[in-house]
Amino acid sequence: MNLNRLTYSLVAVGLLSMFGNNLMASDIPTAAPKVYPEGEVGRMVKLGEAILNKTDTHPLTKDLVGDKIQCKSCHLKGNDGKPGTGSGIGTFIGTATAFPAYSKREKTVQSLQDRINNCFMRSMNGKRPIIDTEASVAMATYITWLSDGMKMHMDTKRPCSPLNSKRWAKNAKKFAGIQKKATHANYMNGQKLFETKCASCHGKNGAGMGTFPPLWGKNAKGEWLAYNTGAGMSKLNKGAAWVQSNMPLGQGGTLKDQEAADIMLYVDAQPHAKFDLKKGLLPKEQMGYYNSKVLKEKHSVRSNFKQFGLDIDKIRGDHKIK
Ligand code: HEC
Ligand code: HEC
Repeated sequence: MNLNRLTYSLVAVGLLSMFGNNLMASDIPTAAPKVYPEGEVGRMVKLGEAILNKTDTHPLTKDLVGDKIQCKSCHLKGNDGKPGTGSGIGTFIGTATAFPAYSKREKTVQSLQDRINNCFMRSMNGKRPIIDTEASVAMATYITWLSDGMKMHMDTKRPCSPLNSKRWAKNAKKFAGIQKKATHANYMNGQKLFETKCASCHGKNGAGMGTFPPLWGKNAKGEWLAYNTGAGMSKLNKGAAWVQSNMPLGQGGTLKDQEAADIMLYVDAQPHAKFDLKKGLLPKEQMGYYNSKVLKEKHSVRSNFKQFGLDIDKIRGDHKIK
């Protein structure tokens, strides 16, 4: 373990407790440890890293993914080019220090592998990997390595890194207040902003381009391209919080609150796969136990808007969708 990194992370966690919500992006470590662990642990770290970079095409996970994005599409690369080391909301640095952690959504204490699987069902629009498989262990091993040397920081409220937890909570609350007041005019403004600030990379039709990931819709084969309506990104408040922190790429923190809110009002009003928890579970004899007290959950674009008291038809005006 690297002493500089340990000092750095202790300083970051110290700052976090001192300043709470006002943690500066520059205070957050943005690199993995410099050397891979030896032997089999090192092999699993590297395998996990490869899966996070190529989730939808990696032989061990491609059949479990129902869209065309990767873990690193949202858990961004930091200065070292590794998935999940970016300083914005969604960093994996510190994540492993928080687990096992309570999750309100599942109403259970979740392991890191459980938490990873939730992103498979939602953000990846896919199915939960089996916990005992090499792929599942490898992803957890890589994410754990990113916290090597950091202090444990168990979270009784949210299953996430101490470097994410307060930022998520504070910003989700702020954007919920803003989104509840949204009108068709905000949607139109969101479209305009999307076309000027985002479409150059993600495409005017949201389908992505080259290495720039898709944000909504289907491809010519009828396959969904991006996250489904059970994903954090599809919630009008959390999506805005993530985008304000991370986008446009390399310019995180530049969008004003109302801009981030309007852009995600527009993006999340476009077609995204319906979420049905049951579809995310493999047959019971294959998957084994599902660590959740909530066994039924469904969302659509319509219900996600309703959650904020909004009528999707009124918001989209004559751009109606099903
Ligand atoms: C479309 C964006 C997106 C993709 C792709 C995605 N995630 Fe996430 N992930 C999120 C969001 C948003 C959260 C936080 C949601 C919340 O707390 O409500 C999150 C949280 C997590 C957490 C908790 C970490 C923390 O410190 O907050 C883990 C672990 C995680 N994701 C793993 C993965 C893995 C592994 C993959 C790939 C299989 C993946 N995610 C793909 C958006 C995404
Ligand atoms: C310079 C190119 C660029 C611009 C401009 C840009 N993005 Fe991104 N965006 C990316 C890249 C690249 C990723 C994925 C990171 C990776 O794969 O390493 C990403 C990821 C995302 C994701 C999560 C992944 C997904 O597919 O859902 C969302 C949401 C997103 N961007 C929204 C936006 C919004 C909204 C804007 C405008 C405010 C924007 N982006 C502007 C390049 C860009």
